[in-house]
Amino acid sequence: MTARSGRRIALIPGDGIGVEVAASARAVLAALDERYGLGIRVDEFDWSCERYLAQGALMPADGLDTLRRYDAILLGAVGWPDVPDHVSLWGLLIPIRRAFGQYVNLRPVRSFEGVTSPLADGKNRPIDLVIVRENNEGEYSEVGGRFNRGQPEETAIQEAVFTRRGISRIADYALSLAAGRRRHLTSATKSNGLVHSMPFWDEVVRERAALRPEVELVEEHVDALAAKLVLRPESFDVIVASNLFGDILSDLAAGVTGSIGIAPSANLDPTLRHPSMFEPVHGSAPDIAGKGLANPVGMLWSTVLLLQHLDAAEPAARLMAALEESLRNPVTRTADVGGTATTDQVTAAVVDLLTAG
Ligand SMILES: NC(=O)c1ccc[n+]([C@@H]2O[C@H](COP(=O)([O-])OP(=O)(O)OC[C@H]3O[C@@H](n4cnc5c(N)ncnc54)[C@H](O)[C@@H]3O)[C@@H](O)[C@H]2O)c1
Repeated sequence: MTARSGRRIALIPGDGIGVEVAASARAVLAALDERYGLGIRVDEFDWSCERYLAQGALMPADGLDTLRRYDAILLGAVGWPDVPDHVSLWGLLIPIRRAFGQYVNLRPVRSFEGVTSPLADGKNRPIDLVIVRENNEGEYSEVGGRFNRGQPEETAIQEAVFTRRGISRIADYALSLAAGRRRHLTSATKSNGLVHSMPFWDEVVRERAALRPEVELVEEHVDALAAKLVLRPESFDVIVASNLFGDILSDLAAGVTGSIGIAPSANLDPTLRHPSMFEPVHGSAPDIAGKGLANPVGMLWSTVLLLQHLDAAEPAARLMAALEESLRNPVTRTADVGGTATTDQVTAAVVDLLTAG
């Protein structure tokens, strides 16, 4: 990942457990700042569904201009049962991803000692893969409409948008990433069912891959790929996928490693012109919010990605090692991964590991 030199971070806790895991990230960043003198400045914004219900918008009208002044954005999660999910998603996350050209959604997935996958033994079948999800176009588009509302012939049309530029740049990013790893790239397609967009996706990915002969490209229909992710997750290195396919595959892959609570993501503008945004894969989890049950590891691993992006490789590596250590012990991991700790206890254990020695 390429790095930025400033260290101003906009923290948006959001809703539900987003607020709880954001507090954890804040404590960890403060501990690292103290230890390494990183010059980190964190400003917090209360942009959320609560704000939407009180003021009619998730973020202020000049919200994007405010964020533009930061080097990175760290987000907990947005969404709450009183607000339709499309309102919360399109009112905050999608505008940020698009306005700041965060066209890469990077989702590393791996197994950890101590976290039992329902499918693979963490020691003998280690999972270590990255999903590169296209983040700016594809199936998540505003093109379409609803007709004949309330009539028997009511119809919804939702168009997908695929461009040569969009596919090329995400394929190039995934190919470079694979070249620095195990040199294997799987492209998720569905060219048998989606007869216009996916053959185009395949053609462009193939063209870009021809320029990187050191990387082996394999195309898989997304349905078969989903089955393989369950049956042989250890066989994947980098997977490149469209917006919708990447979204679904990354939750599946996170589940395969043991819990969605540990999965991180980075929304990257690889040109570095705009701030990138780091957030756990999970949502606001209303079912466990306020109970101290939220696993903060997804947020803290996202903080590792943020630190790498802000050119703080050593603190990032130290935080990753502290997460690995805390996951090894049931007393310092949360219930979703077979432990007994609360969110605050995990945070305290990680902070202790960061400040020790
Ligand atoms: N990027 C985001 O902000 C984002 C992503 C996904 C969903 N959402 C929103 O979050 C809300 C809830 O969505 P959902 O229930 O489909 O998904 P979710 O990820 O919030 O929860 C799914 C399940 O996983 C569990 N879980 C999630 N994170 C966990 C953690 N850190 N520790 C322990 N358990 C955890 C939850 O308790 C729940 O049972 C919705 O409003 C949705 O739109 C937001």
